[in-house]
Amino acid sequence: MGRGAAGETASMQNKEQNMRAGTPASRSGTPVRPRRHPGAEARRVTPATPRKRRARPSTAREMERRYMSVVEDQTEIISRFTEDGTLTFVNEVYCRFFGKTRRELLGSKWHPRALPEDVPMISEKLRSMSPVNQVVVIENRVCSSTGEVHWMQFVNRGFFDPAGRLIETQSVGRDITNLKRVTADLEASQQALRSLSARMEAVREQERQKLARDIHDTFGHALTDWRFDFAWLERRLAEAGLDGRTAIQRRLSAMARRAEAEMESVRRIASALRPALLDTLGLSAAIEWLAREMQSRGGIRCHVTVPPPALVFAAPQSIAIFRIAQELLTNVARHSRAQSVNISLEVRDGWIELLVRDDGCGITDAAAGDPASLGLLGIRERAASLGGGLEIQGLSNRGTTARVRLPMAQPVKQD
Ligand SMILES: Nc1ncnc2c1ncn2[C@@H]1O[C@H](COP(=O)(O)OP(=O)(O)OP(=O)(O)O)[C@@H](O)[C@H]1O
Ligand SMILES: [Mg+2]
Repeated sequence: MGRGAAGETASMQNKEQNMRAGTPASRSGTPVRPRRHPGAEARRVTPATPRKRRARPSTAREMERRYMSVVEDQTEIISRFTEDGTLTFVNEVYCRFFGKTRRELLGSKWHPRALPEDVPMISEKLRSMSPVNQVVVIENRVCSSTGEVHWMQFVNRGFFDPAGRLIETQSVGRDITNLKRVTADLEASQQALRSLSARMEAVREQERQKLARDIHDTFGHALTDWRFDFAWLERRLAEAGLDGRTAIQRRLSAMARRAEAEMESVRRIASALRPALLDTLGLSAAIEWLAREMQSRGGIRCHVTVPPPALVFAAPQSIAIFRIAQELLTNVARHSRAQSVNISLEVRDGWIELLVRDDGCGITDAAAGDPASLGLLGIRERAASLGGGLEIQGLSNRGTTARVRLPMAQPVKQD
């Protein structure tokens, strides 16, 4: 195929040049059919089939003309070059695009038209072509006739000889400058949205932290004061000899118990907003707390494996993992119908890995991939904003496994 293809190109080029010069193609340029048997020559010269003999070359020429017009009608820039990069064929579009004549181009190298910084990458990719991997697609920049830089996508096909040596490469390139621009704009706007969402998340987190402190400090302290006041009143009543006997004393005891219960509610509300544990004892303790809460309120058995508290995580990672674990466990409680859940947090090869595996109904592929699944989307965005990601998979009636990975940032080890 290789030799044939190379020969075909040379012939095509000759023919094309001849056609352009207005001279008919020479007989020597016409492919000669190999003789099949000794009698073939004699039959060939008999006038028995004169019309057929005349038709063959004109059909071949016609096919070649059609082929050339197909090549020339392409909007893509098409070229062929040898192993050392010497151009052996270029179409009209190629000439127009680079503002050169065919005569100037044929025999020259393709390299000067690519941006110099892209040439090593292009050469390396071209070298990767082989008889088993004949096509390589390369995106690189070129300088057009107007001096503008264009992004191009070239589909390169190598032609090899039977010994596996590269003879020639055919390259079909299309201008993808606009596509690249649109893709870059899209990526930039996605990045901007991600930054905005991370910023809003950070603000929400600060607000939650402040609210949790305010609730804890204001109501918690007020309720503590009341408890002291009740204790004082009880003591005074006891001193007055009214201990355990009057309706006032019974009412006071009931109020004291209510204040105690209210204090517990305040603690719970403040912790749900932002567990103080996360800031004081760290991520491992906060995850254990989450699991305890889930077990006591959701009735789902929780098995927790976390690193020792001596391993301190950087604040953004710590908050992100905590909020992600919270959402995953809320999902388990709301959707899984699980009996038990395993939660493991570990640090491996510079990555923090959170694994939440339940034994429930199993998330469906549709739900896991649904862009409208806002809880999961939030997890993905949180993880992505810190350079990580989420994988979530379900097996019908055998549970769901969610794995979140974040790069570890400056862990501080304590003795
Ligand atoms: N552990 C799980 N087991 C089974 N299905 C799950 C599990 N976690 C999530 N799902 C399915 O995936 C869907 C999407 O979850 P996602 O957290 O994004 O949304 P949600 O929990 O329905 O709503 P919210 O926005 O309040 O989080 C859920 O509606 C549920 O069908
Ligand atoms: Mg959810």
